[in-house]
Amino acid sequence: MTAPQPTTLLVAETVADVRAAVTVMRRAGRSVGFVPTMGALHAGHVSLIEQARAECDFVVVSIFVNPTQFGPNEDFNRYPRPRERDLELCANAGADLVFYPTVDTMYPPGHRTFVEVSGLSDVLEGQIRPGHFRGVATVVTKLFLIVLADKAFFGQKDYQQQMLIRVMTRELNLPTEIVTCPTLRDPDGLAMSSRNAYLSATERQAGLCLSQALRLAERSFASGECDVKQVEAAMRGMIEATPGAVLDYAVVVHSETLCPLATAEPEMVALIAARFGTTRLIDNAVFIRK
Ligand code: PAJ
Repeated sequence: MTAPQPTTLLVAETVADVRAAVTVMRRAGRSVGFVPTMGALHAGHVSLIEQARAECDFVVVSIFVNPTQFGPNEDFNRYPRPRERDLELCANAGADLVFYPTVDTMYPPGHRTFVEVSGLSDVLEGQIRPGHFRGVATVVTKLFLIVLADKAFFGQKDYQQQMLIRVMTRELNLPTEIVTCPTLRDPDGLAMSSRNAYLSATERQAGLCLSQALRLAERSFASGECDVKQVEAAMRGMIEATPGAVLDYAVVVHSETLCPLATAEPEMVALIAARFGTTRLIDNAVFIRK
């Protein structure tokens, strides 16, 4: 028997349809790759889909603007939802199936079950966006249990998110391997993000201070600086000196536990977040010291 070969992009809106399509593929011995997204896709998302395409036989992308990860004053309603363009980008990047659920499908009225990863949920992004990671952990668990992929692909861009999902997947024994892919940047260094679309030209220019601060930290460690507090102060100084930038945090922490550090360690990550007008941007850089 020849295995089923999808020729065009399938779009599923129900859990049952996703399960049916994935089951056919699994029974045919095909590996399944999964890329969860909130849509408004850009080259960063496309790189995840291409990576899934390179590593797996059947590639599922989900597009769902997840209400439970947005705070009451955040951009859930204005978050861009360019459906046709997103589907075209998925098809061109080699996706086989797009799961495009409604809010009622993911959260039927009365939904009351949530997943929390204590500790990691409450620091840095979690401290500034209370409830955000509870929403992320909940929706990703649900999506993982719907798709049951062999591998799921996440961006390093959202460093704390991918770390939290790694811990959650391990601790809940979810049967999916987490693959973290590099951050795609515009040529001037700005990390690609669906939220960059909100930035005015001046705000976008100011936003470059994030990647510049990360490069400053990188140079500083490369030249032998061991005092983490000095490096953090230099990053903060650079961002605070940028007109239009309002700093949330700029820290260097342990790359797995995200715990604060006093002196440089073999594996560290610099995590930064700042606001530009009404738009919040985050960025990070991992430093491996041999
Ligand atoms: P979203 O912001 O749409 O991002 C989907 C995936 O794309 C995430 O894994 C994110 O890290 C990755 N990504 C975003 N910008 C990137 C870039 N410049 N380079 C590489 N990868 C990039 O993250 C979410 O959605 C949601 O929280 C989600 C996990 C889907 C749960 O709702």
